[in-house]
Amino acid sequence: MAIERTLSIIKPDATARNVTGKIIAKLEGAGLRVVAQKRARWSEAEAQKFYEVHKERPFYNDLVAFMTSGPIVLQVLEGASAVAKNREVMGATNPADAAPGTIRAEFAENIERNSVHGSDSPDNAATEIALCFDASEIVG
Ligand code: CMP
Repeated sequence: MAIERTLSIIKPDATARNVTGKIIAKLEGAGLRVVAQKRARWSEAEAQKFYEVHKERPFYNDLVAFMTSGPIVLQVLEGASAVAKNREVMGATNPADAAPGTIRAEFAENIERNSVHGSDSPDNAATEIALCFDASEIVG
């Protein structure tokens, strides 16, 4: 299995409830390594740019408002098949559909306040990582 990197975001609903450590423990428990991490508060422009791919979707404005409503934790995760592994440990986008034991089953409030984001393909991971981190911030 190829060693990959993926972008992970712990969202404002999770930082508000002080569960970032519990979420990181699940990521590490799944074999993913945090090779870069920072806590940030996105501006409206940063959230709009990150979620540009969804800009025609009906939930876009609410998503931008939510993602700027509080601090987030941005991470680069590394490991074997990291993109798929992270999506497996996150669980389905809608927590109502998320498998037991996944991050979203345990922590998410609803489809918007769903605690974590993870890149959905290796190509998008590379784009999202470059958008959120300088190369010098990825320290292993
Ligand atoms: P995320 O993986 O960050 O990618 C886009 C986000 O849009 C998604 O998680 C959800 O938090 C949010 N979202 C809100 N409503 C919907 C919806 N109806 N379908 C998909 N994503 C939604």
